[in-house]
Amino acid sequence: MENINIKEYKVWDAPIRVFHWVNFISVISLIFLGLIMLYKKDLGITSVDAKIALKELHIIFGYIFVLNLTWRVIWGFIGSKYARWRYIFPGKGFVKSTRRYIKSVVDGDTQQYIGHNPLGRLAISIIILLLLTLSVTGLIRAGTDVYYPPFGSYVSEYIASPGVNPDSIIPYNSTGTDATKVKNLKAFKRPFGKVHIYSAYTLMLFIFLHIFFVVLTEIREGGSLISAMFTGKKLLNKKPADLDS
Ligand code: HEM
Repeated sequence: MENINIKEYKVWDAPIRVFHWVNFISVISLIFLGLIMLYKKDLGITSVDAKIALKELHIIFGYIFVLNLTWRVIWGFIGSKYARWRYIFPGKGFVKSTRRYIKSVVDGDTQQYIGHNPLGRLAISIIILLLLTLSVTGLIRAGTDVYYPPFGSYVSEYIASPGVNPDSIIPYNSTGTDATKVKNLKAFKRPFGKVHIYSAYTLMLFIFLHIFFVVLTEIREGGSLISAMFTGKKLLNKKPADLDS
């Protein structure tokens, strides 16, 4: 008769919920467009214009994603208790609480948390780091590939031949560019592209794990993990492990 003492706890404030769903939609769109770019040949997309258009669309979703993430980073310092980075990134006592949490799962008496449980904190920390890596490498690729802001104007200025107006440089067109500098640029941007794509694959894996474990915990615990991202409130039937922390 455990469910008699269900209590409601405020957890996710409105900015967190808005961030989560904007992030969800923009990341899914970025993955979808990213995969089309990766498999464009198999999909019969061969024209340079179509390739550039795909990149531009990916970059537009990228800007929404980066602005939303930047706001979340700031909110992690000024937002409500469970939005704060100190309640997310592993810190003092984390190993102990993780051991205690895993033991409670193994013993069949899983601890409940208002915020993220320790394994959730670890997963979210990795996801946030991946999102930041994708933001930085994506903005660099946007600048070095198609000369989009915030770095694009510096790139076209760098590769323009002497006397050529940098604004006249067009992506995937060597007119008015300095061949040696274009070669340097290619060498510079390659590692960022590699990190971008491997981070995207790792992120896909973590998104899968994130959804799998959230659904599993919801089924096993009969809690309110998923609805809390809409309502901001969790319903728990045990004393939360992070109530007084
Ligand atoms: C969750 C975030 C993101 C994911 C999952 C993601 C995923 C991908 C994938 C799978 C590719 C294909 C790689 C390739 O064709 O080599 C790609 C390419 C690209 N991404 Fe992203 N991306 C993200 C964020 C961003 C952001 C924030 C920007 C910039 C605002 C950006 C700009 C680019 C550019 C310019 C390319 C083309 C690079 C190239 O053709 O080599 N991405 N992205």
